[in-house]
Amino acid sequence: MKKPLFTLVLAGLPLLAGSAMAEESFSQWLFTLDRMKEFRPVDNETYAEECGACHFAYPPGLLLAMSWQKLLDPVALEDHFGENAELGEDTLAEIQAYVIENSAENSYYKRARKITRSVQSIEPPLRITQVPYIKRKHHELTAAMVRDNPEVGSLSNCNACHTQAEQAVFDDDSVQVPNFQHWDE
Ligand code: HEC
Ligand code: HEC
Repeated sequence: MKKPLFTLVLAGLPLLAGSAMAEESFSQWLFTLDRMKEFRPVDNETYAEECGACHFAYPPGLLLAMSWQKLLDPVALEDHFGENAELGEDTLAEIQAYVIENSAENSYYKRARKITRSVQSIEPPLRITQVPYIKRKHHELTAAMVRDNPEVGSLSNCNACHTQAEQAVFDDDSVQVPNFQHWDE
């Protein structure tokens, strides 16, 4: 016999309640009007501070857990894209738990789900800028707009162009490429 939908939903609630974070993200998702779009904004201070020290603190929903695990390996962090981004044991453990809990495949947000789908048949990349969905969205941008643009320099600098990146909003309505009036012409 087919169970009514609400029974299934109720049956799922204790599972979610098992983790305070999961419960929080579920209710946050449930009551956010934008839940069908974008990513969950960064809401862990340790992560924001440590992983936002050299660049924009990327919302965890931009990569799969497997990618985060590789990036956040203690040895890997000693040579993180040519920089030393080592962390103390407790700090690293907190950051690992936070990003894995909110990684693309564990996120309810629509763009996070697109990221997951986009890397399904490939080795999960270490770079967000290597995720096919992200690459596709930027394929029209020229070197003059990105690499050779003194106010951008690299596609990794999301917040150079996405004016609401801090809120994890990447909608093309909120894009402003510095030194370019129209990026789509
Ligand atoms: C000491 C400076 C530094 C710190 C601290 C740091 N990073 Fe980075 N990170 C870099 C550099 C440099 C790059 C390469 C940027 C580029 O290619 O333009 C990078 C790139 C990345 C990328 C790939 C971005 C892309 O191109 O898609 C991710 C993901 C990332 N960092 C995550 C983190 C996380 C998570 C932390 C916290 C544990 C962290 N970073 C801390 C310097 C740092
Ligand atoms: C040089 C400026 C620039 C940088 C840097 C940049 N973007 Fe973009 N991004 C754009 C533009 C312009 C568009 C709109 C492209 C289009 O609609 O054709 C876009 C589109 C997007 C979209 C799709 C928006 C939509 O409405 O469908 C996402 C998601 C996105 N960017 C995420 C990122 C992330 C994550 C980063 C950093 C890793 C990043 N972008 C870095 C300029 C930039």
